[in-house]
Amino acid sequence: MAIHVDRENRVFTIHTAHSTYQFMAGPYGFLLHLYYGKRIDHQSLEYLIQRKDWASFSSNPGDAGGDRTFSLDTLPLEYPTAGTGDCRISAAAALDEDGAAALDPRYKDFEIRRGKYALPGLPALYEAEPGEAETLAVVLEDPVSRLELELLYGVFAEKDIITRAVVFTNRSGKNLRLTRALSAGVDFLYGDFDLVHFHGRHMMERQIARVPAAPGIQTVSSARGTSSHQHNPGVILCEKDAGEDYGDCYGFNLVYSGSFAAQVEQDQTGQTRLVMGVDYGGFTFLLAGGERFTTPELVMCHSGGGFAALSHRYHRIYRHNLCRGDWKLARRPVLINNWEATYFRFDGPKLIQIAEAAAGLGLDLLVMDDGWFGARDDDNRGLGDWFPNEEKLGMSLGTLVEEVNKRGLKFGIWFEPEMVNEESGLYRAHPDWVLRLPGRDPVRGRGQLALDMSRQDTRDYLFERISAVLDSARVEYVKWDMNRSLSDWYSPLLPADRQGELPHRYVLGLYDLLERLTRKYPRVLFEGCSGGGGRFDPGMLFYHPQIWCSDNTDAIDRLKIQYGTSFFYPVSAVGSHVSVVPNHGTGRTTPLATRCIAAMAGTFGFEMDLTRMDDAERAEAARWTAEFKKYQPLIHGGAYYRLLSPFERRGAPGNAGVTAWEFVSPDKTQALLCAAAGEIRANPLNIHIRLKGLDENRLYRLGEALYTGAALMYGGFALPGFRGDYPARVFFFEGA
Ligand code: DGJ
Repeated sequence: MAIHVDRENRVFTIHTAHSTYQFMAGPYGFLLHLYYGKRIDHQSLEYLIQRKDWASFSSNPGDAGGDRTFSLDTLPLEYPTAGTGDCRISAAAALDEDGAAALDPRYKDFEIRRGKYALPGLPALYEAEPGEAETLAVVLEDPVSRLELELLYGVFAEKDIITRAVVFTNRSGKNLRLTRALSAGVDFLYGDFDLVHFHGRHMMERQIARVPAAPGIQTVSSARGTSSHQHNPGVILCEKDAGEDYGDCYGFNLVYSGSFAAQVEQDQTGQTRLVMGVDYGGFTFLLAGGERFTTPELVMCHSGGGFAALSHRYHRIYRHNLCRGDWKLARRPVLINNWEATYFRFDGPKLIQIAEAAAGLGLDLLVMDDGWFGARDDDNRGLGDWFPNEEKLGMSLGTLVEEVNKRGLKFGIWFEPEMVNEESGLYRAHPDWVLRLPGRDPVRGRGQLALDMSRQDTRDYLFERISAVLDSARVEYVKWDMNRSLSDWYSPLLPADRQGELPHRYVLGLYDLLERLTRKYPRVLFEGCSGGGGRFDPGMLFYHPQIWCSDNTDAIDRLKIQYGTSFFYPVSAVGSHVSVVPNHGTGRTTPLATRCIAAMAGTFGFEMDLTRMDDAERAEAARWTAEFKKYQPLIHGGAYYRLLSPFERRGAPGNAGVTAWEFVSPDKTQALLCAAAGEIRANPLNIHIRLKGLDENRLYRLGEALYTGAALMYGGFALPGFRGDYPARVFFFEGA
């Protein structure tokens, strides 16, 4: 049993294959957190809690009477709430009907359920095989306000994953208001941690930062209405000396695509608290009698063996228990996208020419990107008018698709459903459908306004229009884009005291529309996008099994972006394309091989005018496409190892500026080693790389040479130092 309950002492212990999580209902019904870390037995770790007289500045709840050793301000709490004596960051806060700000939940009951809980209207992990998960539900209630909290724990024992979510139910007849409702908190009684997080900007997403969890509060957050380019909703707490293969580390990844916060506080006692969930300035949620609020899900994982094992567990659970639909584990098509090839300047015949060239390279699918609808000839107009512009295309959508299909390619199309331009038929007909503050000029992003996705009528229009396009031709792929940070949070359909719910209701509306469309079109491959990787989060992966990783297609920048992305997200989810040089974003010129090798650490595809390639380039692109297809099951289904980081220099002097990564098949009979140089030095030294994940005793063949797994992993592999502009190479090791 993954969940063990000591009823007498009210201690709850959750075991996964390699980790244990423990908490208890302590004195007066306060839920105390006891442990998260390497697997132990059921023994209660309550003995670790420091009990001493905290004197007057860490106060004591009334229940404790004269006991000055009992303070919520110093105890490790399972789900810290505000207003009752704990002055640290809280996971939840509420207002009673009279405005009193207190939330004092006490333990009531628990239940163990078979299977994994679901969160209606929200993306969440699910059981892929019956019996692989269990649920622990612990019920608390504030005896004064009658606000009930159901703390949910989903346990994927064999996969070493524990999920958290909270359902708040107003059991009183009065109005209650949540002012904070995060998905979880974890208090670490002891430990000196680093916080690893993934920050960036448009075209430079998920750069790695590693900082000490110092006294005070550190916040990683987005208030943009999206999970954002700037801060990803995935953070890691790790031991000071933890690295890829060593040390305790804890992952926290929010299954949510809107504004969020992860906060880490090291308190006066040296304890470290992490809380994470939906967060934006002014979050409130009104609960009338009987109403509920459900938080998004937080996916937690502990690895006692460093970041590599942590990432493998996230990759596995996301591929199998988060992504859905016909495409989740299927071989993804290699696609050609026309965006960087043509931008807005294209017509049907041009796309057909590109399709023809793509067919010659062995590609599978052509994506018609932005500019095919309404009056969309630049980015100031047209969004919202999801009607093919037959005049511009020079043919109907149906004819275009047929022509592309005739050349052996499937057809895909771009939408940006959540947005509208003021210069559009949609805006002229429904100016009230946008997010806009009364009496104020709306904020524009890329010249566009955001539709109010909390509105059913707006969503119905989008569902009907997108369906009409998908039904009108054989469209087999949809790119779902979104190109601005959200603001102007006001919806005329919500009463004044519910406006603080809007950013969350927007996300719920988006999920509702995505659910309807992905259910209706299970055979269509949906790829998420938000100006590249501005919404690269597990919430989106529930609807789209792949996400365009970045608008930056420069191979050398991509090494960093994809390296950072790999901590939580599987390679099969990473949209990555080969583009033209000099690169449109950086002006850098890299060899085609390097661009192909970088794109192979993802879904692989092209984003350039293939009709302009010369014969040599065409032959090389075809070769790399065939290579990718050969290795695709290994790349997407194997274990991904980070070997040399583009963010730090480690190992032999010749390794400076080199990034290396590796894919190993589940049965360890195949390994693909990839290395790319971001910098070059004269008089180059050998690059020394230790492979990982091989079978020590197996022989591996590389060309004519044979190596044992042990030799490659512990002795390593040496390749002559790189020369030239940004070279890259792959080495395929096959079990002999
Ligand atoms: C942003 C996306 O990330 C690009 O790939 C492209 O689709 C453009 N939008 C189109 O406007």
